[in-house]
Amino acid sequence: MTTPILAFDETVRQRVSTRAFLPTPLTDEQLQEVLQDAQYSPSNCNTQPWNVHVVSGETKNKLAQAMIANDLAGKQTPDFSFSYDDFFGDYYTRSQDQARLYYDSLGIARDDKDKRHEMYLKNYQFFNAPHAAFLFMPSFGDNIRVASDIGMYAQSFLLSLTARGYAGIPQTLLGFHADIIRAALGVPDDYRLLFGISFGYADTTAPSAKIRQPRLPVATSVRMHG
Ligand SMILES: Cc1cc2nc3c(=O)[nH]c(=O)nc-3n(C[C@H](O)[C@H](O)[C@H](O)COP(=O)(O)O)c2cc1C
Repeated sequence: MTTPILAFDETVRQRVSTRAFLPTPLTDEQLQEVLQDAQYSPSNCNTQPWNVHVVSGETKNKLAQAMIANDLAGKQTPDFSFSYDDFFGDYYTRSQDQARLYYDSLGIARDDKDKRHEMYLKNYQFFNAPHAAFLFMPSFGDNIRVASDIGMYAQSFLLSLTARGYAGIPQTLLGFHADIIRAALGVPDDYRLLFGISFGYADTTAPSAKIRQPRLPVATSVRMHG
């Protein structure tokens, strides 16, 4: 096994959501190391409910085309809802701020709907990443706890990528066409698609590569008692 190149404090601080990738794929060995790291994630009662489908090459390209065609036809089939309108107050403001920072980095004006839609569709092209992982889960109860297990897995996966010199981005949008992904990958109907992760090597020359989304001070998020 190769040795991760970053220490933990560097890993968590250097992990960012990458939206421009080089075409270079990871080798099978590199891919297995990341997947092995992610297996160590904690889960409720050690159920290890992550069911992961990794796509590359022609399979990935065909899925990109299918998702874009489906989206343009207005046929989204997400297993779980998502709407910016569900955010409120400071949470809504932060969601707007993060979008502004991204579009500003690309020189896209707020009212340029066509360009913004073009960038939105890049999600379905995996931002040109050579690989993507679709994170499926069984349905337990109201799905909240199993979804949190998938989140744990995703963060391990993302940190492993960073520590080993690769890059990734978690994407809710990769769950917006769950029906066609399930059909294409032979996933049973009772497995839900929470989100996907595009990954590979970052294109560090891309304008979006410079973005660092700000974080709140600890005292805003955490209260100490006793
Ligand atoms: C579960 C999850 C889903 C996300 N979905 C998307 C997405 O569909 N498209 C996208 O461009 N970014 C997506 N993001 C990335 C967030 O915008 C990003 O994590 C946030 O702005 C903080 O930036 P950073 O990851 O670079 O620190 C997602 C992040 C998470 C955790």
